[in-house]
Amino acid sequence: MKIKILSLLTITTLFFASCGGEEKAKEVVNEVKEEVTENIEEAVEATGDMANIGIGPITSVELGDLDADLADEGKEIYKTNCTACHKFGKRYIGPALEGLLERRSPEWVMNMMLNPKEMITKDPIAMELLAEYSTQMADQQLSEDDARAILEFIRTKD
Ligand code: HEC
Repeated sequence: MKIKILSLLTITTLFFASCGGEEKAKEVVNEVKEEVTENIEEAVEATGDMANIGIGPITSVELGDLDADLADEGKEIYKTNCTACHKFGKRYIGPALEGLLERRSPEWVMNMMLNPKEMITKDPIAMELLAEYSTQMADQQLSEDDARAILEFIRTKD
């Protein structure tokens, strides 16, 4: 009898242990599922962002090899027109511009520089940024050449 109770106890314990194990396994599987779903959603979102060219005069930008002279020129224009609100390493009045070209298309970036007023009222990404930063990105009246030079400078920072 003693042995029977003991073995029954053992079986019950094993049963619960395995149940617990199963629960745990399910939990782990669900966690992994959630993480994978999140990653996929992020990837889809990021791809969507990169496909967005924004609203403005720029419809296509060809990025060839880095043009160091153009980047130097862009650096100067950036210094006078952008540093009041932007830094590369950290958020300031506007977003940190580090890694910008990994999250935005070059066309979108140029349209943001050239046509910020329309961008922040009509473009979904820019509207979201305005909501987050609560300051309007200034229109610095740049020429397309200025904006292209700044874009080249930004490429050196990526
Ligand atoms: C008066 C401050 C101000 C100035 C000057 C300014 N910006 Fe902005 N910028 C912002 C703000 C604020 C945002 C976020 C959108 C918004 O709230 O309008 C932004 C957004 C951006 C974005 C989008 C960033 C992202 O994470 O997608 C880029 C690119 C950008 N600015 C580039 C520039 C460049 C280049 C210049 C210089 C030609 C410049 N900005 C000048 C304030 C400024």
